[in-house]
Amino acid sequence: MGAKHKSGSKRFANYPRLNPLGIGHDISAADLIDKTFMAYNGGRLREAAKLISKKMLPKNGTVGITLTGALTPAGLGKSCLIPLMKAGFIDWIVSTGANLYHDLHYGLDMKLYAGSPFLDDLELRKHSVIRIYDVLFDYDVLLDTDAFVRQAISGSEFQKPMGSDEFHYLLGKFVYERGRKLKLKDSSVLATAYECGIPIFTSSPGDSSIGMNIAAMALRDSSLMIDPNRDVNQTTAIVYDAKARGLKSSVFILGGGSPKNFILQTEPQIQEVMGIEESGHDYFLQITDARPDTGGLSGATPSEAVSWGKVDPETLPDCVVAYVDTTVALPLLTAYLLTRNRPRRAKRLYDKRNKLLKNLSDKYLETGTVTKIKERKKNKSVYTSKNKNSTSR
Ligand SMILES: NC(=O)c1ccc[n+]([C@@H]2O[C@H](COP(=O)([O-])OP(=O)(O)OC[C@H]3O[C@@H](n4cnc5c(N)ncnc54)[C@H](O)[C@@H]3O)[C@@H](O)[C@H]2O)c1
Repeated sequence: MGAKHKSGSKRFANYPRLNPLGIGHDISAADLIDKTFMAYNGGRLREAAKLISKKMLPKNGTVGITLTGALTPAGLGKSCLIPLMKAGFIDWIVSTGANLYHDLHYGLDMKLYAGSPFLDDLELRKHSVIRIYDVLFDYDVLLDTDAFVRQAISGSEFQKPMGSDEFHYLLGKFVYERGRKLKLKDSSVLATAYECGIPIFTSSPGDSSIGMNIAAMALRDSSLMIDPNRDVNQTTAIVYDAKARGLKSSVFILGGGSPKNFILQTEPQIQEVMGIEESGHDYFLQITDARPDTGGLSGATPSEAVSWGKVDPETLPDCVVAYVDTTVALPLLTAYLLTRNRPRRAKRLYDKRNKLLKNLSDKYLETGTVTKIKERKKNKSVYTSKNKNSTSR
């Protein structure tokens, strides 16, 4: 070290001192995160909380969230997602069908139980008990939920091809009305999305019990068909609208899987396929257990996403990946945001879906080609000094 490094304060000028609070009684989750989550994945979770609170939510930024893993069976729909939706902190959603299917149990007032991961599954099967790790419920919960879906989608409003956002809106209306009869409040993500005009997409409509019931009904007389082209263009239209109006577009990824790509691919759809000039999503936050070194998309870093045009290189230093179980991270982040941020007015993007799609379509027909898109000059800032450390993201 020696004389070369005499001033400690200068060398560490960019780094806050580690000076945690001694935890006492009645500390709020927000203070716990700000004052004691200092390093490693605790540190990343603090950065995640600050990223949403100070960058994604202010100035009416558009926030899309993805849901994978078994979140709703564990009650995180009711405890976290619904309060976040009601506070106006979630503008649009891409979910696995599983999370929406299991959300229906809560929306229909069915019972799920806190069990154990160490039970005898043969015994459970004998007694018609279904297990998702340590969550237990009766086989009848599945049968009754399936029947609800089949009866709901028999209605005339479902007899046509439609985007998954329209499908979930119509299904959400059914759950909302059933919930009112059962005197339930704020118990279903689907019903809340219907109430708040929040579009919910699913990236793999056939891959869940909801899709299984839609498929079975197609063997009867149902004309319901989920249109993936509409979904790809509609999700892109949401992002294009935000960026065209100068708003930030943020992705908040819980887990990984196919919804992660579905939300991110909106940017290459704008740039690479439609030939519209754009720089990428502004903020990327992922809470996951998926590792980056296997090459799978679930673990791919925001830096890798920059190379695809999915994330704006300018804002890459702000992006965060926290390797934390989402069932731990999401309640903490929810408490943080509800403490630190004021509610926002709902954007009700569902109500604007046709207009948003038309705007994108008009721009594409003006700009896009059938032949190879002429490559535009890449954003020069990718290699600026500001982003030197970006490979660690
Ligand atoms: N009954 C049903 O409808 C049903 C039930 C289960 C799954 N499925 C379907 O199976 C497919 C896969 O579902 P999935 O969501 O379980 O995918 P998955 O298990 O592949 O999870 C997606 C990603 O999230 C990560 N992840 C999962 N749980 C996490 C947690 N608690 N914390 C941090 N990261 C976590 C995983 O590592 C993975 O990278 C979906 O299409 C789903 O709809 C359907």
